[in-house]
Amino acid sequence: MNMTLRQLTLFQAVAQHLSFTRAAIELSLTQPAVSIQIKQLEGHIGMPLFEQIGKRIFLTDAGHQLYKACEDIFERLGSLETSLNELQGSIKGQLKISIVTTATYFIPKIFQAFARAYPEVSLRLNVYNRIKVLERLTNNKDDLVIMGQAPEHLNVTAHSFLNNPLVVIASSQHQLANKSNIPLPRLLQENILMREVGSGTRLAIENNFVKNNIETQTTIELGSTEAIKQGVLTNMGISILSKHAIYFELAAKKINILDVNTFPLKRDWYVTHLTEKKLSLVAKTFLEFLLTNSQKIVEQSTL
Ligand code: PGA
Repeated sequence: MNMTLRQLTLFQAVAQHLSFTRAAIELSLTQPAVSIQIKQLEGHIGMPLFEQIGKRIFLTDAGHQLYKACEDIFERLGSLETSLNELQGSIKGQLKISIVTTATYFIPKIFQAFARAYPEVSLRLNVYNRIKVLERLTNNKDDLVIMGQAPEHLNVTAHSFLNNPLVVIASSQHQLANKSNIPLPRLLQENILMREVGSGTRLAIENNFVKNNIETQTTIELGSTEAIKQGVLTNMGISILSKHAIYFELAAKKINILDVNTFPLKRDWYVTHLTEKKLSLVAKTFLEFLLTNSQKIVEQSTL
């Protein structure tokens, strides 16, 4: 098969957008130029890669197969580039990291400092909830994975690099906002806004309730930390979140941390990888950077 990498790049873009026009815009080409290349690629393969139904296009079975192959090929080429750079002793190339959603509140600050120190590293960040991040870790999809608790069922190496207190929060207008020593069962009289199943935050809260013989009642489930914060701000209920997620609202005095027994839950952030994984030089450098600098960077940015 005489297909070229250029054709595969175009194909991947069309397959991702399921649109010739959007792929052309992304690659700064004209739509006819993309269509011609895809036609030629189909000629090499001997089968159509897309089918049109009404105004929409879909991948054919051959298209799906080629798409999977493209993912492998480009992944491999990315790591080849990184290892060639390593041979030259330079710290450059791609760094692919998955993080749990709550880590979005501080990881960009650490990335920014790392990018300043190592400008030739290109960072790719994927954000998912805990369950999806675990799936990626199991399938070795990333250089490193950041989460709130290392899994026990997998053979992983995990380093804690930052503290991660979970706190009970309410609107500053809430009747419990300024009370002290609130017993844990008192929370059950409130609407507790919870993250979705699969969230690490939710798992930690449920474990704490079980440990204290409290039957959890998820009265309202909201699928993101941002939605929960909005719910708390409008006094829809109280919630429990990582302190990292609420610095702005605390500073603006819109949200209060409640003084509830057993809280804050003391947790840490972990950077993990499969123990058998051979880390690239870029990944090792980032890991070192994370362990040495995170606490300082995050403290400075929340002063
Ligand atoms: P989450 O994970 O964003 O999926 O809730 C956070 C954590 O594990 O602490």
